[in-house]
Amino acid sequence: MTDGLSENPAALLRWYIDAGVDECIGDAPVDRLTKRAPAPATPSAAAPAPVTMRPAMPVPAAMPADADALAAAVRAAQAATTVAELRAAVEGYDGCGLKKFASRTVFADGNPEAPVMFVGEAPGADEDRQGLPFVGVSGKLLDRMLASIGLARETNAYITNIVFWRPPGNRAPTDEEIACCLPFVRRHIELVDPQVLVLVGGMSAKTLLGKPTGITRLRGHWYEYETPGLPRPVPTTALFHPAYLLRSPDQKRFAWRDLISIKQKLAAAK
Ligand code: URA
Repeated sequence: MTDGLSENPAALLRWYIDAGVDECIGDAPVDRLTKRAPAPATPSAAAPAPVTMRPAMPVPAAMPADADALAAAVRAAQAATTVAELRAAVEGYDGCGLKKFASRTVFADGNPEAPVMFVGEAPGADEDRQGLPFVGVSGKLLDRMLASIGLARETNAYITNIVFWRPPGNRAPTDEEIACCLPFVRRHIELVDPQVLVLVGGMSAKTLLGKPTGITRLRGHWYEYETPGLPRPVPTTALFHPAYLLRSPDQKRFAWRDLISIKQKLAAAK
């Protein structure tokens, strides 16, 4: 490098982060520009030793959720009688393949006594670093969206996700990974027992509403979320994910309508 970055590790790291490199996928550099001859099929004593290069580690594939892991999730979730116990149960659960690749468990943020609970999708790199949901760029937009209707995680909003660990490379969580987190998410909603539930993004909405429809059709309506552990059905709606709104600002007007509707529902629930 000619700009002095190679002599300044902090600047180099900053350069990588700015370029979107937020994850180490191998511990040895791979020079993809150098052509290598294919190694002989049977190396002879005379032949030079084949160059062994560690391939860059691919994004780890999803592990299938086994029945035991699912049953363990149901047992652990049901045994929790408080949000604190549930957090400990999630942190102690090893049945979800995502946990192996994550640095932190991202359980929740905000006030568990709040009248409204938001359930997003999956932690990203910032969330994985801090162990808190929605603290990156899309989290900043979510905070502004909440503030526009008088909500803040510090006081009257509670925020979690449909999975508790960052999927490697920010891929979407698989059905299996969602399935083993779901008993905890459902128990989480029962223990918080919010007056209003907001599902942020298509994955969260589809999973918790049990509908195959996309977010564009799910948003803008109210549903009733019901489980045996809830004293009554919870009025529930879906909201465009802030990451989507950052990519498609023309959709913000729909999100604004949804936020007003949430504000009205909360006022009616008082
Ligand atoms: N997106 C989510 O859905 N959840 C987070 O915690 C961060 C980004």
